[in-house]
Amino acid sequence: MNQDDLKRAAARAALAELVPDTLVGVGSGSTVNFFIEALGEQAARFAGAVSSSERSTERLRAAGVRVFDLNEAVLAGMARPVYVDGADEIDPGRRMIKGGGGALTREKIVAGAFDRFVCIVDASKQVETLGRFPLPIEVIPMARELVAARARLLGGSPVLREGFVTDNGNQILDVAGLAISDPVALEEQIDHWPGVVTVGLFARAPASVVLVATAQGVRRVSAPG
Ligand code: 5RP
Repeated sequence: MNQDDLKRAAARAALAELVPDTLVGVGSGSTVNFFIEALGEQAARFAGAVSSSERSTERLRAAGVRVFDLNEAVLAGMARPVYVDGADEIDPGRRMIKGGGGALTREKIVAGAFDRFVCIVDASKQVETLGRFPLPIEVIPMARELVAARARLLGGSPVLREGFVTDNGNQILDVAGLAISDPVALEEQIDHWPGVVTVGLFARAPASVVLVATAQGVRRVSAPG
């Protein structure tokens, strides 16, 4: 099995987590692309989707899935039980680093609008401690160097993602070398720096369920209780 086979297996397993006739929250990335493909085959079973990026929206529409604007869905009181997304890293507490694809802000917004976060990953994304993957931070461009300086004070090495503009018109700093011993506290801290739009730590609200694809099959890990 290659990595794409594993991503596809995790993505297809997420179909069993969905609630018929409701909206599905859809993240971004190569694993989610496999999920969109699977969702398209069953589009009639669901009310539609709320998307976390322009790229996912395009793919959802091409797959025959109706895409709702989040504001419209909230105003209409549409049920929003399950959000499905990948991750760049996930730890045993189901806390994640996300934003490798640069969609972290909309991902955090859409994830927070749904009751449960189902994370789909292959086993290579599992880590004991977050931080091997450089932490993405979406910044307002005029604050970039201030945020970079603060990241250096924490021991990180920030690098501007060259030639990349987010769906919100902002920039991304990828911060390598951070020792993330307390992901919740670090998320809290960086979120408060002026000019930070979103930090790619998803720790305060970890995944509810993780579907980990391995050569032996898809393992389901869920929050206790
Ligand atoms: C995009 C993300 C993705 O979920 C993350 O980068 C994982 O992507 P992939 O499934 O391609 O490995 O956070 O902003």
